Amino acid sequence: MADLLGYEGKTVVLVGAATGMGDAATKQLVELGAEVYALDIAPIEAPVKQGIEVDLRDRGSIDAALAKLPEHVDSLFHCAGLPGAPFSNLDTMLVNFVGQRHFTESLLPRIPNGGAIAIITSVAGIGWSKNRESVDALVATQDFEGGQAWCEANPDAANGYLFSKQCIIAYTKRKSADLVAREIRINCLSPAPTDTPMLSSFHDQVSREFIEEHFLSPLGRNATPEEMGDPLIFLNSTAARFISGQNLIVDFGYVAATEMGLRPALL
Ligand SMILES: NC(=O)c1ccc[n+]([C@@H]2O[C@H](COP(=O)([O-])OP(=O)(O)OC[C@H]3O[C@@H](n4cnc5c(N)ncnc54)[C@H](O)[C@@H]3O)[C@@H](O)[C@H]2O)c1
Repeated sequence: MADLLGYEGKTVVLVGAATGMGDAATKQLVELGAEVYALDIAPIEAPVKQGIEVDLRDRGSIDAALAKLPEHVDSLFHCAGLPGAPFSNLDTMLVNFVGQRHFTESLLPRIPNGGAIAIITSVAGIGWSKNRESVDALVATQDFEGGQAWCEANPDAANGYLFSKQCIIAYTKRKSADLVAREIRINCLSPAPTDTPMLSSFHDQVSREFIEEHFLSPLGRNATPEEMGDPLIFLNSTAARFISGQNLIVDFGYVAATEMGLRPALL
């Protein structure tokens, strides 16, 4: 059978590999024959080519981690994230957008034409186009320092999880246009609630009942980490070679139900 995914022998970098969706995607990529360089602030369990510590809140840490990566990288995945509280809004913005973007921009020269980037955002970012002024302003900043300074100067706008996820979607769409000339694809993936360590933080913030009443997938259960890791792997695969600039919503029809007025649209 043809290898539709095409990861055998490919050099893959995955940030946020310690737990949850990133851990699931890392294990699957190893099974598919990729050489995986796995990064996280926490220890990596999966049997990867190399595990590397990185703190996405810290530009120096990101640059030190980049220095340990190979000169040729076929595929980049971003799975790291903070849930907002109990972390500060600034830490959440740095991990979820500013540091992640610095990592991506710094690695891009090592990604050859035809490479691919996939980033996990969230269904929580679905309202990004209603918040264009702030989203465009942060996405327009040029680098880590510029992004951090904008967040510090605009704390009402840079108010944590939802905004960080809106910025990922806008950055992905904007960047896809820039990368056409190099035939590099970039997409993001928006999960519905998924059974990972982060979900308990969301329950602590607003209550399990609220999340389940308003955001649970129409199937009536949370997704498994693998049910997000697998479509993320698809996005950077050979099978998805004409897909770029997309926000793949993986929710078993939750957003569709809100669009058709079958459920309230809270986002
Ligand atoms: N679980 C959900 O219900 C849900 C829903 C929508 C979107 N998401 C998104 O999915 C992605 C994966 O999250 P998850 O649900 O697997 O949760 P998770 O908490 O298991 O994974 C997040 C990973 O990010 C790492 N991380 C945290 N701070 C870091 C830092 N400073 N530097 C480097 N790495 C750091 C963690 O160690 C962890 O491995 C995140 O972007 C999250 O926002 C999750």
